[in-house]
Amino acid sequence: MKLTSLILLAAAAGSAVAAPVREHAKRASLFQFVEEKILIGLSGFGTNESGAEFGENNLPGVWGTDYIWPDTSTIQTLIDKGMNIFRVQFKMERLAPGSMTGSFNADYLRNLTAILEMEDVWAVLTISSNGAIITSTSEFQTFWQNVAMRPFREQALALAENADINDVDNEYYGMDQTLVLNLNQAAINGIRAAGATSQYIFVEGNSWTGAWTWTSVNDNMKALTDPQDKIVYEMHQYLDSDGSGTSATCVSSTIGEERVSSATAWLRANGKKGILGEFAGGVNDQCKTAVTGMLNAMAASSDVWLGAMWWAAGPWWGSYIFSMEPTSGTAYQGMLATLEPFLG
Ligand SMILES: *[C@@H]1O[C@H](CO)[C@@H](O)[C@H](O)[C@H]1NC(C)=O
Ligand SMILES: *[C@@H]1O[C@H](CO)[C@@H](O)[C@H](O)[C@H]1NC(C)=O
Repeated sequence: MKLTSLILLAAAAGSAVAAPVREHAKRASLFQFVEEKILIGLSGFGTNESGAEFGENNLPGVWGTDYIWPDTSTIQTLIDKGMNIFRVQFKMERLAPGSMTGSFNADYLRNLTAILEMEDVWAVLTISSNGAIITSTSEFQTFWQNVAMRPFREQALALAENADINDVDNEYYGMDQTLVLNLNQAAINGIRAAGATSQYIFVEGNSWTGAWTWTSVNDNMKALTDPQDKIVYEMHQYLDSDGSGTSATCVSSTIGEERVSSATAWLRANGKKGILGEFAGGVNDQCKTAVTGMLNAMAASSDVWLGAMWWAAGPWWGSYIFSMEPTSGTAYQGMLATLEPFLG
């Protein structure tokens, strides 16, 4: 973190944290969540390459073979570029082996905590699970209560309660809409019951939590309640034809602003805050224009949009089309300059 945001975060968390303040000359961010910065970060690790949730066919699996933790030195490089939020994914079955409500694997927890303890960043703790569909809201509540009872830094932590099912990703899809609502509410209840009152809680909806389908699919999510009033609706948006983020080709140069516009209206109409938890486009002129148009549209609606997180970085991305991993990643080399105006 480069400037006043730690103070701001501490204030947001309602705690007094003495923090070194460094000056920097960049202009204020167009977004408000953390002053001065759009929140572009390491997203999790969503396909089959790397990350603490990877190797989904091998549980618990072997560190360094089946899965890997993000590299704190490359995270630091991205922080130095102005990023300040990192969506850290982990596998539920590795943290709580055997049972969702069981005790945690101390080694996995220690490695996870090491990333969350990095200074000056927000970390979004994001679970994925590849077991059967979770239908027990009470077990899901207990899992999140156990997570939130850990002594993680509270001033820079958001908790995301994705319960991905049957997939390597972290997004709900094809599930009963009321169950999605109830699982989200159970997680909120568990986190608050643990005494974690300062954290933001990021919630995700059905249909891969897509922004473009949010209003038609996830309207019921407006019923979620939080005694701390710190719910953030996390949506994802890719700009290829089917919105899956599997092609480097964007539909048009205006597709970004088009795909978030109904979600923007929904957030505003319902008095909610949103964040784009995943977005990406290929390294080409059309996508660069589309990404810029989307971020500008969100920045113009910074009363409801708190920021955005690029998908994705991580040590094992190799030549992946969207890799933001310093320094060889395709997007790190070809897209970072496009994002730069939005960074702190
Ligand atoms: C992930 O890897 C498995 C094999 O390990 C393969 O069957 C699957 O298609 C891959 N999924 C993606 C999204 O790459
Ligand atoms: C934790 O990280 C260390 C390397 O720093 C590794 O040796 C160990 O296997 C990891 N354990 C887990 C459970 O991730």
